[in-house]
Amino acid sequence: MDKNTLQKYDIAGPRYTSYPTAPQWSADVTGEMYASALTRFGQNDKTLSLYIHIPFCEQLCYFCACNKVIRAKDEKVGDEFLDHLFKEIDRVAKLIRQRKLIRQLHLGGGTPTYLSEIQIERLFSKIQSVFDIDPGDEIAIEIDPRTVTQNKLKVLRRLGFNRISMGVQDFDAKVQDDINRIQPYEQVAQVHQWCRELKFESVNYDLIYGLPYQTRDTFKKTVDLVMGLRPDRIALYSFAYVPWLSKPQNKFNLDAIAVHDEKLDIFIQSRENLLAHGYQAIAMDHFALTTDAMARAFNEGSLHRNFMGYTLKPADEYIGVGPSAIGYIENTYFQNTKILPEYYEQTAQGRLPIERGKQLSRDDQIRQWVINSLMCRFKVDKQLFFDTFGYEFEDYFLEEGRHLHDCIEDGLINENSQRIQVTDLGKIFIRNVCMGFDYYLKDKNGQKRFSRTV
Ligand SMILES: C[S@@+](CC[C@H](N)C(=O)[O-])C[C@H]1O[C@@H](n2cnc3c(N)ncnc32)[C@H](O)[C@@H]1O
Ligand code: SF4
Repeated sequence: MDKNTLQKYDIAGPRYTSYPTAPQWSADVTGEMYASALTRFGQNDKTLSLYIHIPFCEQLCYFCACNKVIRAKDEKVGDEFLDHLFKEIDRVAKLIRQRKLIRQLHLGGGTPTYLSEIQIERLFSKIQSVFDIDPGDEIAIEIDPRTVTQNKLKVLRRLGFNRISMGVQDFDAKVQDDINRIQPYEQVAQVHQWCRELKFESVNYDLIYGLPYQTRDTFKKTVDLVMGLRPDRIALYSFAYVPWLSKPQNKFNLDAIAVHDEKLDIFIQSRENLLAHGYQAIAMDHFALTTDAMARAFNEGSLHRNFMGYTLKPADEYIGVGPSAIGYIENTYFQNTKILPEYYEQTAQGRLPIERGKQLSRDDQIRQWVINSLMCRFKVDKQLFFDTFGYEFEDYFLEEGRHLHDCIEDGLINENSQRIQVTDLGKIFIRNVCMGFDYYLKDKNGQKRFSRTV
């Protein structure tokens, strides 16, 4: 790709963990609406995916754009949190009034293993007291290799957790120092070995490219070390530089951050390295060993995407508990307040702590379907589109013709009467391909709210 085209696509854009994206959500969606939706959910036989957000971390990583609360290790912090979380779970369960089967359970954060062994067991028992968990389904947790212990991993495995995801980010000492996350290779290797001994079915590493002081050479060393350990999955995230949202990112020396073609080079070099070592590129920024279930799902076209990332077994409806957690029921997004004291206040009063959301129009649902198809399968099947919505693809997306034409010209997609197929180049710029279908980006000012696509 020539420099001009690269510059054309190296712009700010969403990651599409939801469509419509969060800036379109508003306080029009309320706790009362959520309560009614949960009640109706209790009267049907739809399945459930449950996300639990545990916001605490012991130390701040300066790059982090997650919803987290920094607290020194303290059992009392976890106990107070669980008191409120259990109130929310009770409120949700009381409205559903049915022991739903959880198809997918995900503990995310922050760092869920901030909780002690006893607290994790209490949380798991609480979930089991109101819902059924099938041990064959996805039961996943995010861990921090700096703080997790072998004993905590044993407890998780005994409870039935089968998927582990850990933040690795980068092994280079200078980068680690600058991002305030000291995590030597030996520490990660030790945690990895414990996970293997305990036979977790899948181990994922998060890596980030585009961090300060990373170069092609330093990041190649990181990827080489990672491949020596051979996690089943790797999420290779582009550093989301959003200092207006994450103030500590202002500490970074901008001159030390790779941009444009240098940043893209780091990604492409890493991608090639991973592909050459038995990993398959899965959808946007994920890689998996060809033996892993995620690679199989991708190849079979059965991969799905939600706010937890990519998933193998989609449930009908999603519920999120904990501060900032997101649910999706009856084509409506519901998000809890992100602010911990507010979350405590609302739950203490027995209220659902919903802060905002978005009810999808028919057009939103149609565009969501297309964006999901591009994100998860790198293609859009026009016949399937017609069968699902009753419109000819070309008729519905007449206005998008110009965008599709540009994407074809620039080598991002191929199109025929049956399908749109994303090319290898287009896979790298998949967010840009999707952006052409985003109704709300027709007003280009909206792009200022997102990190860069490359
Ligand atoms: C909740 S953390 C993972 C678990 C645990 N807290 C840890 O850090 O080990 C989620 C992941 O989001 C990614 N992440 C956070 N901030 C990011 C940013 N600004 N840009 C890209 N990825 C980011 C990191 O790779 C991080 O591992
Ligand atoms: S990257 Fe993980 S450990 Fe670091 S602040 Fe973010 S959530 Fe916490």
